[in-house]
Amino acid sequence: MRHFLTLTDFTKDEILEILTLAKQIKEETKRREFKDYMPKKVLAMIFEKSSTRTRVSFETGIYQLGGIGLFLSSNDIQLGRGEPMSDTSRVISRMADMVMIRTFEQSKIEEFAKYSKVPVINGLTNEYHPVQLMADYMTIQEAGLEKDLVVAYVGDGNNMAHSWLNLAAKLGFELRIATPKGYEVDKNILNNALEMAKISGAKIIIGNDPKTAIKDSTVVTTDTWVSMGQEDEKEKRIKDFAGYMIDADMMKLAQEKAIFLHCLPAYRGYEVTNEVMESSQSLIFEEAENRLHAQKGVMVWLDRKRDEK
Ligand code: CP
Ligand code: NVA
Repeated sequence: MRHFLTLTDFTKDEILEILTLAKQIKEETKRREFKDYMPKKVLAMIFEKSSTRTRVSFETGIYQLGGIGLFLSSNDIQLGRGEPMSDTSRVISRMADMVMIRTFEQSKIEEFAKYSKVPVINGLTNEYHPVQLMADYMTIQEAGLEKDLVVAYVGDGNNMAHSWLNLAAKLGFELRIATPKGYEVDKNILNNALEMAKISGAKIIIGNDPKTAIKDSTVVTTDTWVSMGQEDEKEKRIKDFAGYMIDADMMKLAQEKAIFLHCLPAYRGYEVTNEVMESSQSLIFEEAENRLHAQKGVMVWLDRKRDEK
């Protein structure tokens, strides 16, 4: 049995295999051909943080695969009143066939997975957002930008930056990250990515200058400056991130064929301008839609691995 907790748990071939499966199911879905890949399977979805895309894509996804999703907000289940993860895991995994969790520390999802009888999927933690990166890479593939890929990530050294590090390190593309001083990526995650990059051939460049990062890149991406749980730091962060907004002038530094991605929700006028969000280079809604398709690939792949025993 396999879990989907971080991209580092997967080989390059496995990541590409999941995406191939996702694309096949996407084509079927577009023809409104809904095959029962996961008949009567139950996906329990535990949310300790808000969500639009993750909730809707997983719930729609499992339903279209022949199963059903259970939306479990931590405000409503006993987890929110202090029932341990280890007990919650042993109870839910005796009833559901797969579990998706959105929570705070990565250690919490690892604790859940340790006790779970069924595959566990990371739907975002403070440290990582791996399912988002599957959708992002699928969007890059569809845009025909896989070859000579140069991704520029500008902004906070957060869960999105960390998952980009993991993906680049696994797949072997060039990733440039520009963060303000004091908002750099986690050192351990970076060092681990640099180790993996030695094998994959990935080029990982870390700095503080957005323009240098974006110059001649083929994908420009950013994320909110204030992640969930950091609301108290909002004012300070907005000051500290001055100069890191992606605007049309920044986009001009990238290659002409470059696309703009954002996991959303986006805060126009902060990390990105409205003009860039609405430009023809912006594939943000294709990217959001691909959450549905990429995650179907993840779920079906994990379900098959479970049966392989
Ligand atoms: N990108 C993303 O995970 O969006 P939600 O927070 O709406 O799920
Ligand atoms: N970095 C953001 C991503 C939201 C999808 C957060 O963690 O809030």
